[in-house]
Amino acid sequence: MNAATQWAEPLAAVVAGDVPLETPAFIYDEAAIARLLGTVSGIREHSGCRILFAVKSFSFRPALALLAPQLDGFAVSSLFEARLARSVLGDRGAVHLTTPGIPPGDAAELGRLCDYVAFNSASQWRAHRDALRAPDAGGLRVNPELSLIDDPRYDPCRPDSRLGEPLAAVAQILDGPEPIAGLLLHTNCDATDFTPLEATVRRLHHRLGRRLQDGSLRWINLGGGYLFEDETGAPVNLAPLYRTLQFLRQRCGLEAIIEPGAALIRSAGCLVATVLELQERNGRRTAILDTTVNHLPEVFEYQYEPDVLGHRDDAPWAATLAGCTCLAGDVFGEYRFARPLAVGQRVAFPNAGAYTLVKAHTFNGVNLPTIYALTPQGDLQLKRRYTYADFAARWGA
Ligand SMILES: Cc1ncc(COP(=O)(O)O)c(C=O)c1O
Repeated sequence: MNAATQWAEPLAAVVAGDVPLETPAFIYDEAAIARLLGTVSGIREHSGCRILFAVKSFSFRPALALLAPQLDGFAVSSLFEARLARSVLGDRGAVHLTTPGIPPGDAAELGRLCDYVAFNSASQWRAHRDALRAPDAGGLRVNPELSLIDDPRYDPCRPDSRLGEPLAAVAQILDGPEPIAGLLLHTNCDATDFTPLEATVRRLHHRLGRRLQDGSLRWINLGGGYLFEDETGAPVNLAPLYRTLQFLRQRCGLEAIIEPGAALIRSAGCLVATVLELQERNGRRTAILDTTVNHLPEVFEYQYEPDVLGHRDDAPWAATLAGCTCLAGDVFGEYRFARPLAVGQRVAFPNAGAYTLVKAHTFNGVNLPTIYALTPQGDLQLKRRYTYADFAARWGA
């Protein structure tokens, strides 16, 4: 079942306009979250690894509260995310932080909130390790220098990457007198094949050798960047992940951790907009929506066309779907539908759960999407409506 099919039933009524809904709307599907959690629970049971959810991909607190009981905790990138994560978890669950830079003023509180910190560099580790609540909380982010992403702008493993210490530096630190408890690597993006992760860990073992298994390291965190379902919704082959986790646990005696983000939320979220205006210019139709690429900012950042419910490559009626800001590039792409769109009609972008709300902004004063939960019973519950008061407060009114 692909993302569009999976959403087809509950969204059919929403898109048909039968259900009261304020657009732009972001809807997260609680049953889909439960299904995705089922997969990670299986991974945890099968492999014994710890699973954290990367809050940077989706930070909506009521949904985090839904995720928390099935997971070992959250992965965070800043003091604010750490506070949010801890406010959901209380004292039941782990918080892991990694960031390229810890502001000195945040270190003490982060040290209290986090169970693991993977410092981005040896100098950050030396500067802030005394703030940690336990000595075995402190680790290092490593750059395994095995590039898996073609575009260097998005490749955390490129030779001059600022993300993590290169392997030679990590080996030197591990040989030194000051103990490091863990390592973090995060090297891929939206991958559905785990063999590059296995190859990365093999490379780490080759370059670090006995240092990985001499008992000085306690944990290793393999980051996120992998999905558990392919784009058709079919489960991916987890065998290379299981081999990797087994090697790290049994051969190296390490506590293994993964921290997926998109894998747990992307297919559970959907953006719904309303057509405000239809235009024809030079024989090309454009439907202007009450949303914007700034509600799905990766569309512009990575220049991709998001899925749209009802689009079919061979359908007769074509239109460009565009946003309602002054940005000339506020365009989602060209789509084809069985019947013409009309002003007032709803348009849904499924598969939009990850890195949308967290990156969304109010350029041109366009309000953020209203957030709804779709309950397992099929009801839409209004969770958060942003108002002029939120906008005005941000801008000092
Ligand atoms: C260190 C780290 N861990 C986990 C993640 C989550 O990645 P994803 O959402 O691709 O699974 C990221 C994403 O950037 C990351 O930088």
